[in-house]
Amino acid sequence: MQIFKEIRPLKLHLQHKRKDGLSVGLVPTMGALHEGHLTLVRASKNTTDVTVCSLFVNPTQFNNPVDLEKYPRTPEKDIALLESAGCDVLFAPETSTMYERTGIVHFDFGDLDKVFEGKFRPGHFSGVATVVSKLFHIVEPDHAFFGQKDYQQLQVITRLVEELKFNIQIHGVPIVREPGGLAMSSRNQRLSDDEKKRALILHESLSDARNSLISGKPWTDVQKGIIEKINKTEDLQLEYFELARRDDITNSKDAGVGNGILLTACFVGPVRLIDNMFI
Ligand code: PAJ
Repeated sequence: MQIFKEIRPLKLHLQHKRKDGLSVGLVPTMGALHEGHLTLVRASKNTTDVTVCSLFVNPTQFNNPVDLEKYPRTPEKDIALLESAGCDVLFAPETSTMYERTGIVHFDFGDLDKVFEGKFRPGHFSGVATVVSKLFHIVEPDHAFFGQKDYQQLQVITRLVEELKFNIQIHGVPIVREPGGLAMSSRNQRLSDDEKKRALILHESLSDARNSLISGKPWTDVQKGIIEKINKTEDLQLEYFELARRDDITNSKDAGVGNGILLTACFVGPVRLIDNMFI
């Protein structure tokens, strides 16, 4: 695997590959890699000739400075994992390489960045769209791979590509979970063993809610029961547990079995986790 910290040498390298007729896939990450990220790398390898993974903890998408400071950073382990997954290129820039100045580029996605994550993390998706646009310009991939774990992010990126006319095919990759059901996340590294056990309630609640909806229970009753159960659990602070249409999460009208997605965000101790499930 070749590692680049600067833009120009990376661009030259990829230009040569493109001249040889090879297609390029991009997997953007913030590092502290786990099996979820590696699944994206494998999806890219199955689809494209050259897989580029980016590793950059993007300051503009963190609305909470403590979250940015505490974000896990494991660069050596990340390099080893990417090597073993057969990644071809790693782009790991410094903040000064990615940002001449911060705070001048902003995105507004209308309703889409005002609900769920956008509501609880103001400015988050503007930061995500800014850094992903930069990565798209730098790498100029044919394909880019994102996890359904961050389902709203996937919809924002899809909107970004449509609006800015990026000639890039976006792929959404299903959520990878721990054996107990907890969705894999870099932030799980910050959970104690006890908190990890308590966090299982998120996946359980999503599964229970899905089963109840499939058996015909009205959504308002399902939601009430789940919220009560989570609120009773020590150390958990629920932000939202909602049902929306999966083709447009700003719309919950007629959302249900076959077209719906359940979305949740919850603090487990000091760590904020998100998860979702199609129904
Ligand atoms: P990060 O949280 O590192 O995630 C990188 C990619 O891995 C995202 O597309 C995310 O959805 C995917 N991913 C994370 N956990 C996953 C899981 N359990 N199963 C499947 N995919 C998973 O998302 C970001 O970084 C950033 O916002 C980024 C897009 C890199 C922009 O800074």
